[in-house]
Amino acid sequence: MKFFIDTANLDQISEAQSLGILDGVTTNPSLMAKEGITGKQNIIDHYKKICSIVDGDVSAEVISTDFEGMISEGELLAALHPQIVVKLPMIKDGIKACKYFADKGIRTNVTLVFSSGQALLAAKAGATYVSPFLGRLDDISTDGLHLISEIRHIYNNYGFQTEILAASIRHTMHVIDCAKIGADVMTGPLSSITGLLNHPLTDIGLAKFLEDYKKGN
Ligand code: G3P
Repeated sequence: MKFFIDTANLDQISEAQSLGILDGVTTNPSLMAKEGITGKQNIIDHYKKICSIVDGDVSAEVISTDFEGMISEGELLAALHPQIVVKLPMIKDGIKACKYFADKGIRTNVTLVFSSGQALLAAKAGATYVSPFLGRLDDISTDGLHLISEIRHIYNNYGFQTEILAASIRHTMHVIDCAKIGADVMTGPLSSITGLLNHPLTDIGLAKFLEDYKKGN
């Protein structure tokens, strides 16, 4: 399972990278705005900084909602760095753009996916990644994990190579449940990754080992 961090915060990206288990970064316009990164050039510069910190894939989202706009934006983003994956919204022109990029060998991440039908279309269009939003479905009392499970089943039926990128992950149990289902990738906040470290018995056990070591020295 690949671990991506879902943030535009450079300190958090660096911290996750320093753990040695980070496979990539996802961003979106809201996450950029949260870090105060606004304006086309600043956003582009920020993507370059992220690519200089991590080794893996970095999703960069287009703002256009029409085919031509997505193509010109996506081509510009893809040319920034080999690690860039063009993130496209799950709308009609997004699917058309996804197919266009797939034919050109440019990697894509189809985002804002909330149904298995949408995920099927993204796979048919040759998406590299599909991003079902788990937490946002849970927010409206709909089982987000069930969607991940359905997509896994459908993709397995036909051998689709599109990777299921479980997005809008909020906490460690989401990560564990997605791993059980067989999501290819998780993306979430730093806390959803570092939280996996914690167990009180580990802390108690380590304290006891160190205490006993001191007794013998
Ligand atoms: O990766 C998708 C993500 O950025 C959305 O997360 O927490 O805003 O639903 P959230």
